[in-house]
Amino acid sequence: AWQPGNIIESLIERVRDQVGAGKVLLGLSGGVDSSVVAALLHQAVGDQLTCVFVDNGLLRKDEGDQVMATFAQHLGVKVIRVDAEDRFLSALAGESDPEAKRKIIGKTFIDVFDEEAGKLTEVDFLAQGTIYPDVIESAGAATGKAHVIKSHHNVGGLPEHMKLHLVEPLRELFKDEVRKIGLELGLPREMVYRHPFPGPGLGVRILGEVKKAYADPLREADDIFISELRNHGHYDSVSQAFAVFLPVRSVGVMGDGRRYEHVIALRAVETIDFMTARWAHLPYEFLDHVARRIVNEVDGISRVVYDISGKPPATIEWE
Ligand code: XMP
Repeated sequence: AWQPGNIIESLIERVRDQVGAGKVLLGLSGGVDSSVVAALLHQAVGDQLTCVFVDNGLLRKDEGDQVMATFAQHLGVKVIRVDAEDRFLSALAGESDPEAKRKIIGKTFIDVFDEEAGKLTEVDFLAQGTIYPDVIESAGAATGKAHVIKSHHNVGGLPEHMKLHLVEPLRELFKDEVRKIGLELGLPREMVYRHPFPGPGLGVRILGEVKKAYADPLREADDIFISELRNHGHYDSVSQAFAVFLPVRSVGVMGDGRRYEHVIALRAVETIDFMTARWAHLPYEFLDHVARRIVNEVDGISRVVYDISGKPPATIEWE
């Protein structure tokens, strides 16, 4: 029978065989796959592993601190945190096209990651959280079978000049197997069963031009939505949920005054494969509670809407 314990043993053995006394570099994103690779490699090769975590300023509320708490403080993994918010935001300034934003974020990530890698004196291997579906997807793309709808920069290859060997211990595993291994390795359940989060992060959840003044309220609204989903026991029954910042202004009244402020859209979907999805039929009382909290607690937001579009035709993300 498939036992996470046995699989871990054999994965660790394979990593040790491949890596020997070499030094391993891993880009840690906070997502399930790279997190499980970090925990696994830490068990396999300990201090030979160095992780680089790039904070692009487009992460969810407290995400950077949580990644550091889990890996650096709790597990004792060597993690270099790079605060690159300003760099990403200035690279994105003035750009409002979704695909162009994705490309800028992808390229800036590679640049920042490369620079950090270049500072490390010894690196022999680059570890990646590639899982079996990624292998299939990129094989399809290479033969032209897959219809590439969006540029998923986090499945990209190595920077050309980095002549490192790849370590991809999860290459033969499916997502549910990766999750079981993550739990067995001691990662928090919340992290292992977290909804997917796109590589470009809030960069594609702020419609049009990305600004810090938009990212901050979006993070607050998203955090209210997600923590209420958890509190009410809905988090695990939806496949993905998040808030979107709409840079349009709408009129609202607050006390004696009128406000002319921005709009937050809430999106929650149920799906098996993320290729098609139905909007989650969350209880009205729940949505009411979340909307009230957002308008009362988040500065600059006077209206909340709930997205009731299915995929197709609407994609899960708004950009
Ligand atoms: P869509 O919006 O295409 O989303 O229906 C399907 C799934 O893919 C995620 N997504 C992305 N993930 N980079 C990523 O790593 C991206 O550019 C990207 N765009 C969409 C989305 O969050 C959903 O889970």
